[in-house]
Amino acid sequence: MLVVGGTSDIGSAIARRHAAAGGDLILTTREAARIEADAQDIRLRYRVQVTIVTFDILALDTHAALLDRLPRLPDIAVCVVGLLGDNLTSANDPAAARLVMETNYVAPSLLVGLVALRFEVRGSGVIVGISSVAGERGRASNYVYGSAKAGFTAFLSGLRARLSRSSVRIVTVKPGFVATRMTAKLKLPPILTAQPEEVADAVSVALAKKRDVVYVRAIWRMIMSVIRHLPEFIFKKIKA
Ligand SMILES: NC(=O)c1ccc[n+]([C@@H]2O[C@H](COP(=O)([O-])OP(=O)(O)OC[C@H]3O[C@@H](n4cnc5c(N)ncnc54)[C@H](OP(=O)(O)O)[C@@H]3O)[C@@H](O)[C@H]2O)c1
Repeated sequence: MLVVGGTSDIGSAIARRHAAAGGDLILTTREAARIEADAQDIRLRYRVQVTIVTFDILALDTHAALLDRLPRLPDIAVCVVGLLGDNLTSANDPAAARLVMETNYVAPSLLVGLVALRFEVRGSGVIVGISSVAGERGRASNYVYGSAKAGFTAFLSGLRARLSRSSVRIVTVKPGFVATRMTAKLKLPPILTAQPEEVADAVSVALAKKRDVVYVRAIWRMIMSVIRHLPEFIFKKIKA
């Protein structure tokens, strides 16, 4: 399994779940030192191979080179990379907004598109994209991030449709709130907040049961259905 964004709490949980089942790992990070201790712990605990690859997803012209230098083309590629950013900053600074858009949409989409082409040639492979419920409707408090996740979700959906007659599968994961470094400064309602291990559980179930789209904590499917159906004249007044 290739985990692009292996240092994230969610990426690490997904990687550990795969390692616990005996699978080897390739983990990417922009800075290897961030992941060495975690990688060593996984090797010792689960007796699997863990390769660390440094990679900045925003360097779009290095995507093909990343795939070329992997020890082998993985069976499963998980793209976890993301950046929440600060919506007020993004609203006032186009450069900050662009960073959020490129990190959550442009770069992950281009990368998984490239992985898909290689999987197609080989005739097998599963791509897991970690998107977000934030992509289902632009909220006042996080529409820059949300719009980028919407783009990534749509890209994954179209890719899945294009490859539906092939042996390549695309899984979209839509977590709600997850307690990670990314959300450490936010006050999240415990009942709606999953742990990174629950995202790993959802990925594991999606892989085993060949699911296309999974929510993390089922209640989010219902919540987002209500949010999607609220008339705009009501929705625009909600400050959330
Ligand atoms: N936490 C939540 O509530 C929540 C909810 C819904 C969806 N999600 C999504 O879940 C995913 C993981 O989130 P998390 O909470 O675990 O976040 P996190 O701990 O902040 O992890 C972010 C990851 O993105 C990587 N990354 C950021 N910019 C990158 C770049 N330019 N090139 C390569 N890698 C880059 C980081 O890698 P390095 O810094 O090591 O390079 C890190 O592994 C994200 O896509 C996030 O949007 C999170």
